[in-house]
Amino acid sequence: MNIREIAESIKGQVIDWRREFHENPELTWEEVRTGNRVAEELEKMGIEVKRMAKTGVLGILKGGKPGKTVALRADMDALPVTEANDVPYKSKNAGIMHACGHDGHVAMLLGAAKILSGMKDDIKGTVRFIFQPAEEIAQGAIKMIEEGAMDGVGAVLGIHLWSGLPSGKISLEPGPRMASTDILKITVKGKGGHGSMPHQGIDAAVAASAIIMNLQSIVSREVSPLDPAVVTIGKLNGGFRWNVLCSEVTLEGTTRCFNPDLVKSFPTIIERIAKNTAASYRAQAEVEYTVGTPPVINDPAISKICCGAVEKLYGKDAAVEMEKVMGGEDFAFLCEAAPGVMAFVGTGNSEKGTDVAHHHERFNIDEDSLPVGTSLYAQFAVDFLSQ
Ligand code: NI
Repeated sequence: MNIREIAESIKGQVIDWRREFHENPELTWEEVRTGNRVAEELEKMGIEVKRMAKTGVLGILKGGKPGKTVALRADMDALPVTEANDVPYKSKNAGIMHACGHDGHVAMLLGAAKILSGMKDDIKGTVRFIFQPAEEIAQGAIKMIEEGAMDGVGAVLGIHLWSGLPSGKISLEPGPRMASTDILKITVKGKGGHGSMPHQGIDAAVAASAIIMNLQSIVSREVSPLDPAVVTIGKLNGGFRWNVLCSEVTLEGTTRCFNPDLVKSFPTIIERIAKNTAASYRAQAEVEYTVGTPPVINDPAISKICCGAVEKLYGKDAAVEMEKVMGGEDFAFLCEAAPGVMAFVGTGNSEKGTDVAHHHERFNIDEDSLPVGTSLYAQFAVDFLSQ
C-alpha cells in the first residue's frame, strides 16, 4: 500500500481521534488532557515521547537508516466559543470549542505518526512530531523551540485545515502566506472639566479620534500600495459622562503585513503619529507596542518538495493557488528556526456546511479531508528525508 492508501485505511481511527478531541476541547495553556492523550497514543506506536512547553508533546521517531531530521507540527488549543453545532461529538466543555480545526490537526498528525511508525525501518533519518500548545496567543511555538523541539531540524511542515478552500484542495505556494500580527495600545491623556467649558480642559476624546483617523493614513499614504498592510483600532475606551470632559482614552488595535521591513518600522510610525497628533490637541499619547508573530513565509525549496508530495498523492490538480491570509500563525516562529512550509488543506464543502469561517460558533470540518492532511504529513517527511 502507498501512503495515500494507508491514510484511507486508517481514516476511521483518525476521525475517532478528531471527534474525541472535539468533544474535549481545552483552552490555551490548559491542553492537559489533550497532551496526555497524544503522548499515550504515540507511546502505543512505539514513538519516543518528550513532554515540554507545559502541555506540549514532542514525538521522536528514529528511522532504520541514518539521515536528516524533519519536523511535522500540529497545534492543540481550542477557543472560548460556545459551540452551536448539533453533532453527536459536540463540545462537552461549556464555552470552549475547537472552532479553528486544531482538533483535526492533532488527529491528522497522530495518523501520520501511525503511518510513519509502520514504515520505520525504511525511514532515512528522524521524524519529530511537534504537538504544540498555545497557538491562539502565539506563545506555544516559541516555548517548544526554547526547549529544543527544533534543534537540528532541516525542514518543518505545518498544516492548517481551511474552510475557505474546497475539500480536497491544497495550497502551499512559496512566499508570504500569513501576516505578521502585532498588538498596539495607545493611552491618550488630556485634562478633565465641565463639558460646557472645553477651553478649560484638554479633550482626550477629540485627540484620540484624530489619532484613529490619522493612523488610517499609514496604509494609504506611507506604505507602498504594492505592500498589503492593515492598521485596525478595535477598541476604544474613555469618558465618564455626557457633560464631563473626557480626560483619558485608551485605544487598542493590531497591525498586519507580510513585509519583514515594514513589521520593524510599524512601532516608530505609530508612535510618531500618536504623539504628534495628541500634541496638536494639547494632549499626550503613550504607545505600547507588542510584537506578536512574524509573517509566515513559505521557503521556496521546501514548498517545492511539499508540492511534489501533493502531486504524488493526489495528482497535479490537487495543489491550487489561494490568496494569502491576513490572519497570523505562530508557526512563523518554527519557520524562523528551520526552512518551513505552511500548507492549507481545504475542508470547505457547502453541502456539508463546512464552509463557515474559522472561529465561528458553527465552524466544522469535512472529515473526508482528514486523510489528505494525514497522508501529506507522512509523504512530505518521507520525501524530504530521502532527498
Ligand atoms: Ni488556527
